[in-house]
Amino acid sequence: MKILSVRFPTFLQRFLLLGIGCLGLLGMAHAPSALALIADSSVYSYRRPSFDGIGKQYMGREIAEVMGHQGASWLERSDRTTEEQPQKMLAALHLAPTDTVAEIGAGTGYISLQAAALVPQGQVLAVDIQPEMIELLNSRIKSLRISNMTPILGTEQSPNLSPGSIDLALMVDAYHEFNFPREMMAAIAQALKPMGRVALVEYRGEDPFVFIKPHHKMTQAQVRQEMEAVGLTWQETQALPQQHLMIFAKG
Ligand SMILES: C[S@@+](CC[C@H](N)C(=O)[O-])C[C@H]1O[C@@H](n2cnc3c(N)ncnc32)[C@H](O)[C@@H]1O
Repeated sequence: MKILSVRFPTFLQRFLLLGIGCLGLLGMAHAPSALALIADSSVYSYRRPSFDGIGKQYMGREIAEVMGHQGASWLERSDRTTEEQPQKMLAALHLAPTDTVAEIGAGTGYISLQAAALVPQGQVLAVDIQPEMIELLNSRIKSLRISNMTPILGTEQSPNLSPGSIDLALMVDAYHEFNFPREMMAAIAQALKPMGRVALVEYRGEDPFVFIKPHHKMTQAQVRQEMEAVGLTWQETQALPQQHLMIFAKG
């Protein structure tokens, strides 16, 4: 896995990203279909990878590179509270104190730890595919003495959650890099309780002034079609400074 720097502070880099974003919006960013290779299932196809993608195509988008554990400090940067307003995002979820929340792609636990404080009689299942992240989560839970958070090592195709066990599946800046989004979302939908919800937070793909690598952003239309493909129904979208929070229900 490559180390991914999602933040681009220089003017030149921002200018380049703006250009790439505009090309993407015009539908010109992808290589021609002649580059398509064999698919590993009917829902995926392959093209030559772009600079921040893996070449694997799903429902019209290229899947992004996974952020390696070496980039963990970026997730804990001090200005993230103002840049992303995670407290506002979590408040918009209206969690009940007894809820079981699974954060899929939990990374260092930046979001999971804040969610755990909101479900004191419930629990947070912090899922990630990188053993290094799980190790980090375990040591943070121990040092902070958190009793209602459990790290879970998932696989690229499954979050390893029991069917019908969670009230909310939360993915913050993670879904766009799932290598098997269809399989992951089908398993996540199965893990929901009957009234369970799915919440996705993604940098806004519609906005060329959100200076994030193009395949690490998603449009609302793209998210909706991918969630609807596994039987989830859009409920609402809330605006955050640079991201959108999208909430879906089962059925
Ligand atoms: C950009 S980080 C975001 C971490 C965290 N949600 C946050 O906002 O601080 C994305 C995380 O998703 C994880 N990830 C990627 N694919 C995954 C998958 N299929 N299942 C679970 N985690 C995955 C990566 O290992 C990485 O830790």
